[in-house]
Amino acid sequence: MSESEIHVAKGLVGVYADTTAVSKVMAETNSLTYRGYAVQDLAEQCSFEEVAYLLWHGELPNAAELAAFRAEEAAARPLSDVLHRVIAAFPHGAHPMDAIRTAVSFMGMEDPDTADLSEAATRRKAMRLLAKIPTAIAAAYRAGHGWAPIAPDPALSFAANFFHVCFGRVPAPEVVKAFDVSLILYAEHGFNASTFTARTVTSTQADLHAAVTAAIAALKGPLHGGANEAVMHMLKEIGTPDRAAGWLEGRFEHRALVMGFGHRVYKHGDSRVPTMTRYAERMAEVVGDRKWMEISRILAGEMLRQKNIHPNLDFPTGPAYFLMGFEIPMFTPIFVASRITGWAAHVIEQAADNRLIRPLSVYSGVAQRSVPPIAAR
Ligand code: COA
Repeated sequence: MSESEIHVAKGLVGVYADTTAVSKVMAETNSLTYRGYAVQDLAEQCSFEEVAYLLWHGELPNAAELAAFRAEEAAARPLSDVLHRVIAAFPHGAHPMDAIRTAVSFMGMEDPDTADLSEAATRRKAMRLLAKIPTAIAAAYRAGHGWAPIAPDPALSFAANFFHVCFGRVPAPEVVKAFDVSLILYAEHGFNASTFTARTVTSTQADLHAAVTAAIAALKGPLHGGANEAVMHMLKEIGTPDRAAGWLEGRFEHRALVMGFGHRVYKHGDSRVPTMTRYAERMAEVVGDRKWMEISRILAGEMLRQKNIHPNLDFPTGPAYFLMGFEIPMFTPIFVASRITGWAAHVIEQAADNRLIRPLSVYSGVAQRSVPPIAAR
């Protein structure tokens, strides 16, 4: 085939790169299942820990399996003293995504199983990452304010403990539930950019910490995980509900992106959005601050009416995390704390049936030529 006949799938749009049994993204019905269960059902009926178990084991846990999983996760939460000192030494004002990427990379150097690529070792490492990532995110957040870290509480759920290590208190059950729901909805999503990054790194037979460090780097960008932060910046810029429609007009005039809208796969809506929006609204009532959800409602209505573009999950999680008391740069690290479950499931799947991921490119540079002597350049 001549080069001019080759079809380049820019952005790998429409390319099926492998099979997966972890989740199914159904663009036609705008729906998503994890191991066969609809994500909105899991959000209503399960805890994040149950969903993590499901993603890693293929089935929901029974009561004994869940208790063992919770105990193992809770016991692995503390960080080493060395890592606490490393986190305390991060540059002032470092972005929390850079902090968690560096902390995870450091954990790879400390982990007793780093070089062991067996599935059993990868599962042990995945559990330690799941348990330690929230502790590291919270320690970096607190260090950035000059505050000492708070020790994790093994008696608390994954979601409740995250509030505890960040703020030293656990909020109302509605707030913890909304957070837990967001973790479930963020946990897994097919071959998105960060998961594909993790699989690509794994395909070279690098270890789990290497794959997760790279995945965190991919998640940072505003076209991927960083969108939830961008959404809240946008809502704050708009400020009040009466300014929302006018602000949007300005964006349309400049043909600018509106963050938290659009999706590469879901072109007619994202099934995670109604669930998250409902929990965010319930929480806004409890917290007593309706403004952000009101601005969001206006933006979503106008985007649909004028552009036929639907919101994605980052749209309701942005204001939800803000109402929970998290600073905006913390939003994407929270996504990391959840998505480690999906990444690890994909790493295990990739390693079990591996082929090096290595696509081709069509050369578009100058034709082959000879190297001129330096005096002639
Ligand atoms: N705001 C305004 N217009 C948007 C838009 C948005 N958020 N998302 C898509 N569009 C428009 C595009 O400008 C394009 O219009 P055109 O055909 O007139 O050029 C059309 O919708 C198709 O979008 P396209 O960029 O081709 O879709 P994509 O699949 O390449 O991109 C995203 C998907 C997610 C990268 C894109 O929608 C986006 O940048 N959204 C904002 C960031 C975001 O929320 N990311 C989180 C993703 S989960």
